[in-house]
Amino acid sequence: MNIVSKFMEADHTYLGELLQIFLAEDKCIEEISQKFQNFQNHLFVHIELENNFLFPCFDKFTGIKPENGPTAIAMRDHKNIVELLKIIKENCASKDIEKVRKIGARLNNIMQKHGIREKKIQYPVSDFFVDQDEWHEVLKKTYGQELEKVERFINST
Ligand SMILES: [Fe+2]
Ligand SMILES: [Fe+2]
Repeated sequence: MNIVSKFMEADHTYLGELLQIFLAEDKCIEEISQKFQNFQNHLFVHIELENNFLFPCFDKFTGIKPENGPTAIAMRDHKNIVELLKIIKENCASKDIEKVRKIGARLNNIMQKHGIREKKIQYPVSDFFVDQDEWHEVLKKTYGQELEKVERFINST
């Protein structure tokens, strides 16, 4: 059973939709900021799950040192993504729509590349060792009420 891949890939699709909704907005800075915030809030939860649960489990299971392996690359991606989020937030605050859209396009690019890497390595490997009950517990704990939204999204696709 691909329990990790199934959920995480669906969450990438969900995040992709939130990102496109944000990127499609090009006139009103209040709307742009609101849509950016929706996307960022959900992305932070997704990253928290990976940084605090999936990646440490991956390192333990594979025996690969985190500083040398796929975790190092994924964590570097996360750092770069969070850095871009910070710049977008600052430019929303200073109402610089052009800059927000420019950095938004870069964010879109890095998110796609990062998602492909995780889909190829972290998620399929995690499918082998993550226990179903533990997985559900971790999802409930990390996502809280957001979990319902994601599950609704998964069921509708
Ligand atoms: Fe990630
Ligand atoms: Fe991810």
